[in-house]
Amino acid sequence: MSSVQNMAVPARLKPPSSALDVNAVRGDFPLLRQRVHGRPLVYLDNAATSQKPQAVIEAMKRFYTEECSNVHRGVHELSERATRAYEAAREKVRAFINAREAREIIFVRGTTEAINLVAQSYGRTQVKAGDEILITAMEHHSNIVPWQILCQEKGACLRVAPINDAGELLLDEFEKLLTSRTRLVAATHVSNALGTINPVQQIVEKAHQRNVPVLLDGAQAAPHLRIDVQTLDCDFYTFSGHKTFGPTGIGVLYGKAQWLEAMPPYQGGGEMISSVTFEKTTYNVIPHKFEAGTPNIAGTIGLGVALDYLNQIGFERIVAYEHELLLYGTEALSQVPGLQLIGTAKEKAAILSFVLEGIHPHDVGTILDREGIAVRTGHHCAQPVMDRFGVSATSRASLVFYNTREEIDALVAGLHKVREVFGT
Ligand code: ALA
Repeated sequence: MSSVQNMAVPARLKPPSSALDVNAVRGDFPLLRQRVHGRPLVYLDNAATSQKPQAVIEAMKRFYTEECSNVHRGVHELSERATRAYEAAREKVRAFINAREAREIIFVRGTTEAINLVAQSYGRTQVKAGDEILITAMEHHSNIVPWQILCQEKGACLRVAPINDAGELLLDEFEKLLTSRTRLVAATHVSNALGTINPVQQIVEKAHQRNVPVLLDGAQAAPHLRIDVQTLDCDFYTFSGHKTFGPTGIGVLYGKAQWLEAMPPYQGGGEMISSVTFEKTTYNVIPHKFEAGTPNIAGTIGLGVALDYLNQIGFERIVAYEHELLLYGTEALSQVPGLQLIGTAKEKAAILSFVLEGIHPHDVGTILDREGIAVRTGHHCAQPVMDRFGVSATSRASLVFYNTREEIDALVAGLHKVREVFGT
């Protein structure tokens, strides 16, 4: 589509100066300049992974060319520099989510590992036969399966709070499922398959009224919303670097110090010990107790720079811009004959999941790809969500602050092409 050939935003859509300048922002992301199948790339698969600003790429390159060394292990200059950079990244994460203390930030591979850590460590000591773990019906597999494994091991029971046809949590039902047997609530902050923003403050309050701790899966929230774990008062919060404009293979588990101190290690190895003999090992203090082995140092540094980048743009601008894009995209997609949006919550992040009548999502994705448009198709690692809506899969366009209205127009034009090909 010709307007997409030139990615500049037309003058009539130019934002006011206090608003996000999408052209300037796009210039920070080198990958977005490329063509795919001869077309300008329209990257709408940000919920799967988001692109990286040049500053992140440079920071990682600099680590490997100038600073590469292990952390917390050497007295030499390089090791001390690497350690300073690694711990500075921890402080950046602390500030990013407003945790009380840097030792409450554990570096892990990603959200999946963070949830598994809590399931195995907290779960091993706090959950017993007959207990219950409460999740919601819109969870990603990574916030279902670790709890199923734990429940199987312990003879505990997984309970699931239902959602309505818009993809919103039924809070009353959720509350009814909180019982004296509930040992933990684990809920997503933003649904990856539906875009729903959950009422996490209320979830935490209701759970805490019954002394039940809460883990929030923030994988899809951290790139879009200002997170404040002290205001939320959640007990655990998780997010992934690669969805937050940082590198793959790095993520964060936040846990209140009182929990992390009481929890046993998740993995054994170097760094997580205080002393080791063949008879007995004593463990390091938090956060090191949960960071066995050499960590992803470059990834951690890259994540810190990604968070700097987000702070520099500012969440007020990001939220306003993405909301406007969501409204535009929702309206534009609603005009496509035979298209049904899956996930129409009042509170939504910029995720547009949909089905086109009579056409399999994989065919939709394949034809869009030929137009240079990247969307995700499938069950989005959320099969129970697909079952809830009676579909096997959806196509999903997931937007961030570097996407434009022109890209949504390109998606709509692509969908008309899909319909033409299938004669619908
Ligand atoms: N969880 C990621 C997604 O939603 C991979 O696509």
